[in-house]
Order: sequence, then structure tokens, then C-alpha cells
Amino acid sequence: MKFVEDGALIVFEGIDGTGKSTQLKLLEKSLLDEGYRVITTREPTGGVYGLEIRALYQDRGSVSLEEELELFIKDRREHVATLIEPSMAGGSIVISDRYFLSSAAYQGAAGLDPEIILSRNSFAPNPDLALILEIDVEEGIRRITEKRGDVLNDFEQTESLKKVASIFRNMNCDYIRRVDATGSIDQIATQIKQLCQLMLAEKNTLSR
Ligand code: ADP
Ligand code: TYD
Repeated sequence: MKFVEDGALIVFEGIDGTGKSTQLKLLEKSLLDEGYRVITTREPTGGVYGLEIRALYQDRGSVSLEEELELFIKDRREHVATLIEPSMAGGSIVISDRYFLSSAAYQGAAGLDPEIILSRNSFAPNPDLALILEIDVEEGIRRITEKRGDVLNDFEQTESLKKVASIFRNMNCDYIRRVDATGSIDQIATQIKQLCQLMLAEKNTLSR
């Protein structure tokens, strides 16, 4: 079993339909095979605030934009305190499907200032690696509707997703790595594995 001293946090980001949850599962398997302790999770969570957020999917207009951001922040505070920090303290690699860059991109696209959103998230530890998966909005929507067979929710409308994609494209933090998500699932997984290995090589790993 391998323990990463102080743990590690890897997050998947990008517009809907880029393949985040597909790649998260493949990365989990590959890190488990290498002997790491891995915890996978996602935002919105299944907690009380996460459930309130999911109720908004079909009725986004029922709360103000400020209230919407506040719900994502409350959900994240609980997520960080109850799962992310304790798991990292135990030496695990935590992999989350979305984290605070999604707030900057989505609530930013809806009209709030992305920089202010980021500063409101300063309680949340920075990830060691944020993988932003990139595809065209049209392809993302095609994957959601045709491949996953879902209908678009209120967060997934074309015009607002174009703004979301543009905010993701302009983000600039040293822990961000962009991944071209147009290739095959295996090609993308190989690239993601390499990026994680580079990050983990810089961290202190203990074996027991
Ligand atoms: P996200 O979690 O980013 O919304 P998913 O992982 O659910 O995306 O992927 C959306 C759909 O696209 C799923 O049906 C999935 O099987 C498919 N998919 C994922 N990655 C690829 C890929 N590289 N090429 C083609 N289809 C993909
Ligand atoms: P999604 O990844 O689709 O979750 P699930 O498939 O589990 O329902 O995320 C739900 C939506 O929430 C997605 O359209 C992006 C949006 N979102 C925000 O607007 N702000 C945030 O801070 C987060 C984490 C997600």
C-alpha cells in the first residue's frame, strides 16, 4: 500500500459531457492498481446542500444567482471538512468530479465575477492537479443527449455553456493541466495517467 504524505487532491473540470466521470473511474482503477489509497467523490455532493442544488436542475430560476453560489459554497465547505481533508490526512489520493473551478466557470457565466467567486472559495484547499477536459460545446451536448441518453438540465444550455467553456479556457493557475478530450477514451486516459504520475512524483510517497 502506498501513502502520499498529506494526501493529494486531483479534480476533473470542464463543461458537461467532456468525459469527466468516465475518466475519473479509469484513473481510480489505475491508481488502485499501483497500490495507492484512492477516494472518489463529486460535487454537487449527496449531502443536504448537494440535494438542494440537484433540485435546481429543472428550476434554476427559483433562487437568485447569489443564493445559488451560496449553496455550492455550503456544499463544498461540508465536502472539504467531512471528506476531502480527513481523507487527505490519512494519505489517500482524493479524486473529485468537479470542485471550485466549476463555481468560477458556471456561476461566472451566469453573471458573477469569477475572481470574486474564487476568493469566496479560499477556505477550500487548492487541488494538486486540476484536469480541465476540453471539447466543443456541441460535442459535449451530443455526448450527453445521444451517448448518455440524458435530457439537458438548466445548467446545460448551449449559450451558457459557451460562456462556461470560455471562462475555463481563460483560467490560469499553476495546478491546471488542459486535456484534449476529443480523442478516444483510452488515449485520454493515458494522457491523464501521465499527468498524475508527474504530479505524484513531486510528492512524498511512503510504502508500507
Ligand atoms: P461528464 O462526466 O463530463 O459529463 P461522461 O463521462 O458522463 O461526461 O461522458 C458523457 C458521454 O460520453 C458518456 O456516454 C460516455 O460514455 C461518452 N464518452 C466519454 N468519453 C468519450 C470519448 N472520449 N469519446 C466518445 N464518447 C465519450
Ligand atoms: P454534474 O457534473 O452534471 O453532476 P451530476 O451529473 O452528478 O448531476 O454537475 C451538475 C451541474 O452543476 C453542472 O452542470 C455544473 C454545475 N455546477 C455549478 O454550476 N457550480 C459548481 O460549483 C459545481 C460544482 C457544479
